[in-house]
Amino acid sequence: MKVVAGSASVGLARELAKAAGGEFIEVAYEKHPGGFPDGERYVRILAPLEGQRVVVVATTHPDPKIVELLLLLDAVRDLKPRRVTLVIPYFGYGRQDKRFEPGEALSARAIARHLQEGADELLTMGLHHPDLLTFFDIPAREVSGMPAIGRYLGGREVDFVLAPDDGAARHAKEVAETSGIPWDALEKTRIDSYTVKFDPKRLDVRGRRVAIVDDVISTGGTVALAAREMKAQGAKHVLVAALHGLFVGNAWDKLAVCDEVATSDTIPSRATKFSVAPEFAGALRKGGP
Ligand code: R5P
Repeated sequence: MKVVAGSASVGLARELAKAAGGEFIEVAYEKHPGGFPDGERYVRILAPLEGQRVVVVATTHPDPKIVELLLLLDAVRDLKPRRVTLVIPYFGYGRQDKRFEPGEALSARAIARHLQEGADELLTMGLHHPDLLTFFDIPAREVSGMPAIGRYLGGREVDFVLAPDDGAARHAKEVAETSGIPWDALEKTRIDSYTVKFDPKRLDVRGRRVAIVDDVISTGGTVALAAREMKAQGAKHVLVAALHGLFVGNAWDKLAVCDEVATSDTIPSRATKFSVAPEFAGALRKGGP
């Protein structure tokens, strides 16, 4: 198995190659030092792939990484591999998974349609909604990243798990039930892209160490407000653990209320503290040779 990475996913791809017993293949992302002056992407795969099972690992955020991934898949195909598995650790555009107003682009479907052209199967993680998989015509699976969060929390003396909204409840439940920790969820209303509010709810967190679990931190508004609420209800320590950390705008200022912020390597950042490589490696093994 050969593992090829997009430029934002090199760390995860190296870990995945190790965990799956594959070989990490180097890619050049610049033709000249500094890249093209107009910012256009470039890729060159630096090893033959003919007849190989190839795993392409590339996150689709921010936008230039989508173009880079299209180039990567095209270059991989031209090298005549036997089979291509596309691993998208973070599937950007997943939140526009419905047409909320007439005439809107169904963004998640549009991105899915283009990416699947270059692959035989797809693995992804922490989707905004599992129904997103139906936008792919190739076999597509969502791999749970919650065991990785569970492993991380395992070393952290957590005694309560909180989902900040309904969408995160399936994730928090999985983490809490596998670790035998009590959990609950808040009811969130989104006011605009930057503002949320919670229905009042008393939770038994006084003096406890709380982990807030979510799929994604974007502007940080959701988990920061949840952390503030937990502190107001007497929690003595609040850790936020999410799969994907986008940290848009002044997210880090808002997150100052948290005692710790930990995210996975689906999007590398200063909060990246654990890897989801074992989860993807396990899914690759289940998918056959
Ligand atoms: C919501 O559906 C997600 O699970 C996250 O809670 C949300 O996307 C986080 O966004 P933000 O960090 O901007 O509040």
